[in-house]
Amino acid sequence: MQHTEITELLKTEPSLHEITVKGWVRAFRSNRFIALNDGSTIKNLQCVVDFENFEEETLKKINVGAAIEVSGVLVESQGKGQAVEVQVSKITILGEADPEDVKLTILSPKRHSLETLREQAHLRVRTNTFGAVMRTRSKLAFAVHEYFQKNGFNYMHSPIITGSDAEGAGEMFRVSNLDPKKPPLDDEGKIDYKQDFFGKETNLTVSGQLEGETYAMGLGKIYTFGPTFRAENSNTSRHLAEFWMIEPEMAFCDLDGNMDLAEDFIKYIIKYALEHCADDLEFLENRLLQVEKTKPQAERSEMALREKMKFVLENNFKRVTYTEAIEILKNSKPNKKKKFKYIIDEWGADLQSEHERFLVEKHFKCPVILFDYPAKIKAFYMRLNDDGKTVRAMDVLFPGIGEIVGGSQREERYDVLKEKMESMGIDEKELWWYLELRKFGTCVHSGFGLGFERMVQFVTGMGNIRDVIPYPRTPGNAEF
Ligand code: 4AD
Ligand code: MG
Repeated sequence: MQHTEITELLKTEPSLHEITVKGWVRAFRSNRFIALNDGSTIKNLQCVVDFENFEEETLKKINVGAAIEVSGVLVESQGKGQAVEVQVSKITILGEADPEDVKLTILSPKRHSLETLREQAHLRVRTNTFGAVMRTRSKLAFAVHEYFQKNGFNYMHSPIITGSDAEGAGEMFRVSNLDPKKPPLDDEGKIDYKQDFFGKETNLTVSGQLEGETYAMGLGKIYTFGPTFRAENSNTSRHLAEFWMIEPEMAFCDLDGNMDLAEDFIKYIIKYALEHCADDLEFLENRLLQVEKTKPQAERSEMALREKMKFVLENNFKRVTYTEAIEILKNSKPNKKKKFKYIIDEWGADLQSEHERFLVEKHFKCPVILFDYPAKIKAFYMRLNDDGKTVRAMDVLFPGIGEIVGGSQREERYDVLKEKMESMGIDEKELWWYLELRKFGTCVHSGFGLGFERMVQFVTGMGNIRDVIPYPRTPGNAEF
């Protein structure tokens, strides 16, 4: 490259050697100071222009949003806020930005709400907040791979298009290239998917787990990391229709080993972010402090962003059975005073996010792993306990987030699984291969799924999941 990145320059000692940088103008003050950002760091490079030495034509085009190339020498900065700055000798305008047009966008230098930023998602990565979030997201993704690769897991690419519903929840997006206006019909007048592209009904995957299990049964330890799709009509700050999930799967591993892995993995990537995203996290922490100030005292977090991360690193996750949790919730103040939207009155109730957050934020005040859930409220593939009514499921619950991980020990017994599928109405014809896996060297095995965006939310302190993925897909919204 002919130019140097700003993150490198800011670590460089002043010298008479000429350097070149390229970036986008964030500000141009007094016809003299350009704040230039190239995305390599949250920090801007100050470029000092002696306007007497430049054409009026050029100076007029140094506008917020424009892409420019600057050459000069790196000198010790006279001003506060930076150690070095560039004494500019040459400026080339690479791409202009008309101030009248810029005024109408989020590039204009004033405060814009996150909602407005979402409407201009093609530009929002040029703001400090989104630059910081997306750089952090990238680092976290790398940390995920590093963790599993270091620990002997194989990265498995599970299919995006599948014929099965891994969660059995019927929340799938159909994949079809039949003519929607005139689909072929069968004898009964129903759409004839035999004539569709794959010769059967197919959908976008809701989870790579089932295929992941087949690979764990040969490679021992695998993980997937890819996009998953859910057509659930949840308009919340924690749900996306397209989200990225990390799903490790391990042969010869029970639920305890599974919980150990989840905790170790989560701590690793949080530690990685603390070590590799210092500047961005500092910015995001201050941003969050400002946001918290606008909330009533009772809703404010007791800890700053990085303090929360360190707290997670330094404390064991509290492991609690579903049954214990129900007792705690039944006797809790918000339950007795009917403050919960869903009152917990008996064993077997599904936990809502309000209950999960109560356990984590008010009761235990630390991350919690709930396990041994009622079979009825969990997916068909989870291993049945000897009590005949609970399964070896586990959810990791996080402060401010609720459920961040869902996993289980898998039902490895052919007969038990077959019966379970029948009783839950899971079509054996679709999942014959999954069942068959239990006939050839079946063994105890376990895995979990971590919602990547929920993790990014925790680390960046962003309140809405739509602000931690470049182009969020939610009900009624697939712009860009
Ligand atoms: O609990 P879930 O549905 O579990 C599974 O999909 C299992 N097959 C995982 C496994 O055992 N291999 O989803 C796992 C995690 C959740 O804990 C949550 O963090 C995230 O995925 N998640 C979502 N994130 C964003 N938007 C959604 N709509 C999500 N649904 C689940
Ligand atoms: Mg779940």
